[in-house]
Amino acid sequence: MEREWLEELFNRTDNFAANKKSLLNKQQGKIVATIFYEPSTRTRFSFEAAIGHLGATNVSSEAAGAFSSAKKGESIEDTIQTMDGYVDAIVMRHGDDDSAHRAAKVSAVPIINAGSGSTHHPTQALLDMYTIQQLLGQIDGAKIAFGGDLVMGRTANTLAKAIASMYKGITMYGINPEGKGFDEDVINYIKKQGAWFREVEDFRQLPKDLDIIYQTRPQEERYTDGQAVPRVLAINNDVMTHFGDSTYIMHPLPRVEGERSEIHKEVDCDPRAKYFQQSNNGFLVRTTLIDQILER
Ligand code: NCD
Repeated sequence: MEREWLEELFNRTDNFAANKKSLLNKQQGKIVATIFYEPSTRTRFSFEAAIGHLGATNVSSEAAGAFSSAKKGESIEDTIQTMDGYVDAIVMRHGDDDSAHRAAKVSAVPIINAGSGSTHHPTQALLDMYTIQQLLGQIDGAKIAFGGDLVMGRTANTLAKAIASMYKGITMYGINPEGKGFDEDVINYIKKQGAWFREVEDFRQLPKDLDIIYQTRPQEERYTDGQAVPRVLAINNDVMTHFGDSTYIMHPLPRVEGERSEIHKEVDCDPRAKYFQQSNNGFLVRTTLIDQILER
């Protein structure tokens, strides 16, 4: 990704948001596959809604581990080399970190990574950056804190690296209450790209004029027996009193429901809570992205 490309994508997304009809049925006759080996609500529905809006046909497997030939022992490579004969682009989510690379290596059509393992979720990072730009006017100079599960959470990892490599004057914090934060490699990468980075143990150690808190869910399903899931500090109305009027809360969602929730429901009424605006942006950014890819 180049910054120029990113800015063009965001401009196109602004135009689409202002005039939804502009992309309506623009890709009629094209076919896009969505193949998801892991659960998904926002990512899959927004991609499939985007494909529908563009007038393209969607062929889909939502539990591909059970319903595709993966169940019969087929490799990603063989599945992709079959599907690429039927469709114009493939959107794929898979539990292995290298799955998107493996697919892209053999595919005759574009592969769009809708989340691979615990490391990459590039289209989520796109809609997250688009949302930050919407909220702050620009991303250069932003002060962003990442909370929740920074060990296995692919959204925070991808976004932190993307912002650090693409924008200038970035300040980043990792909220790490018990020595389980971003991986050393991620921190080194962020710093090498020129972002300033520090770890804190609690929300109250963050500056009051912070721009964004990017909260995430404990990725319970990614820890095998015996591995401890990092403790996630919850955001509630009391935590929010520490911050100013323009400290926005983002979350890729889903969040955990109820008492164990990493963002208590009461925060939803706070005007600084932006996670549903963020998920709405998923449709806008993905429609624009698919359109751009099919246009090529
Ligand atoms: C995230 C994911 O799948 O990584 N969800 C999403 O795409 N919005 C976050 C998560 O599952 O915690």
